Amino acid sequence: MHGRRLATTEEIVALVTPNSDRALDRLESWASTNGVDLTVLDIAEDVTDDHYTEAPETLGVTIGGDGAFLEGVRAFAPREIPFMGINTGTLAFLARVKPSKTTDALTEVFRGRGSIHSRQQYHVTGADLDTTGINEVTVENVPPAEPHGSKVCKLHLFVDGEYVGEYFGSGLIVSTPTGSTGQALSNDGPVHYPNNNFTLQVVPYETHNVSATPIVVSQKSTVQVVPEGSVKVTVDGGREVVETGEDDVLTITGADQPAHVVRTSYDDPFMPALADKLGWGLRGVEDSGPAERLPDTDEEPDFLSAAVRVAREAARAAGEPLHELHGQVEQVEYKSDKADIVTEADYQSQRIVSTVIENEFPGHGIRSEEDLAVEGDPEYVWLVDPLDGTGNFAHGNPNYAISIALTDAEREPLVGVVYNPETDETFHAVRGGGAYQNGKPMAPTDRDRLDESMLLSGYDPEGEFLQRFYYDTQGVRRLGSAALHLAYVAAGSADAVWEYDTHPWDVAAGLLLVREAGGRVTDAAGDPYRLQLDARDTRTPLLGSNAALHDSLLEHL
Ligand code: IPD
Ligand code: CA
Ligand code: CA
Repeated sequence: MHGRRLATTEEIVALVTPNSDRALDRLESWASTNGVDLTVLDIAEDVTDDHYTEAPETLGVTIGGDGAFLEGVRAFAPREIPFMGINTGTLAFLARVKPSKTTDALTEVFRGRGSIHSRQQYHVTGADLDTTGINEVTVENVPPAEPHGSKVCKLHLFVDGEYVGEYFGSGLIVSTPTGSTGQALSNDGPVHYPNNNFTLQVVPYETHNVSATPIVVSQKSTVQVVPEGSVKVTVDGGREVVETGEDDVLTITGADQPAHVVRTSYDDPFMPALADKLGWGLRGVEDSGPAERLPDTDEEPDFLSAAVRVAREAARAAGEPLHELHGQVEQVEYKSDKADIVTEADYQSQRIVSTVIENEFPGHGIRSEEDLAVEGDPEYVWLVDPLDGTGNFAHGNPNYAISIALTDAEREPLVGVVYNPETDETFHAVRGGGAYQNGKPMAPTDRDRLDESMLLSGYDPEGEFLQRFYYDTQGVRRLGSAALHLAYVAAGSADAVWEYDTHPWDVAAGLLLVREAGGRVTDAAGDPYRLQLDARDTRTPLLGSNAALHDSLLEHL
């Protein structure tokens, strides 16, 4: 999930521990000032469908310490609700926003400027357990009834069916990266930096064999613990506690469902929290050490770099609901004819992209295909096609894209982004700064012979382009997305494209992609193609190519 998607959040569900009145006051007053719906629940209450409308439009908040945060995982993760923890506790690695930073952090999140980190969870089955957790499963001896009774247990460990060996001692801890700062750490397990860390680790628990060290395995591995005799199994520090029976085997693997944790620039950073709170006594924790020797990543970005970054993030955030809805379109609306359709997905994507742009560039104008016009500084107008290739999308075909461009006062593109959520490909260009496919420079082909070329065409009502070029080339393809056509010519997977008619939002981004990659885009007469914002009754044809073929194509048109 992308932090930018939170720009369209409309409501908050808060799980609150007792004695958190001041932090809750701050949350309530922020929500009422900002017109955000707020539902406050006691930490022990279950979140149900009645408490929120739609997961991606809802932010979860916990107020309390890490215990409250763990309750947040239990309540929000299965519902895919991203959430953040306000820390009113003392020792917290998970809830990392100080109460005094609540309003700043929320404002950042609702502008879409926070980030969402997916945290690995585990799933454990066996001995009446079938549950998901985020910290650890502890397997240990059942405390003896008599003081002289045995305080150790024997466990056999298997990873992906391979026998690791017999552990004789107090037990074993199987933890996630998030859980690595909990019980695992107290038993000499390593600390895992939890961001984008998808692993499980097995840490011997007070083992009687000091040479046994922790093992780190992939989230996809299956860890199996076969006890000899009955053992006690504890999930996330006590959320569930069971004793195993005769032939029970515990099976632990990475859960399919991660917890979506929202992070802001107001969060206490992880490393100082670790070193400080655990009293590691590392020097330099207060400052950032000799950071000046590291390459500078905090350099103030110039306007165009900021614009292209925001456009890329907006496109990816809008791509999420499109990818989720792809192949399951239930309703289409017809615009001008049976092929001119719009779906709920077009509107959802448009809402995300336009909100992100408005938040980041408040004075700019926006024109987006589904009747959205934001008046602003004519110097900067964004042209957005929230879903180019709706016909493909509605039929479950993967050729569709989000197209976002920023244009200057002459309506020449400054920045262009085309993103295909199905292939996860991003094409972007900045005027004077080159064109890129997934961050790597791209270039069109250098073919200059028609009989060696492969062409693309858009709407071609009389089939004229097809007839003229089909036999003289290696083929003419129609993919159904003008934005992708241009991106493919820019990236060299086709040599040229012809569109009989274009809307500015279809091609504004692709135009810059082709030009910056080194290709050429003209009208049918060979003059540079110009975006026509208000040309309702005139047809705007487009010929884009690798440049080398352009004159031969024009001659043939
Ligand atoms: C359409 C597609 C199609 C092109 C049409 C466009 P939409 O956009 O780009 O390939 O031939 O002219 O309108 O309606 O899917 O956004
Ligand atoms: Ca379009
Ligand atoms: Ca569209």
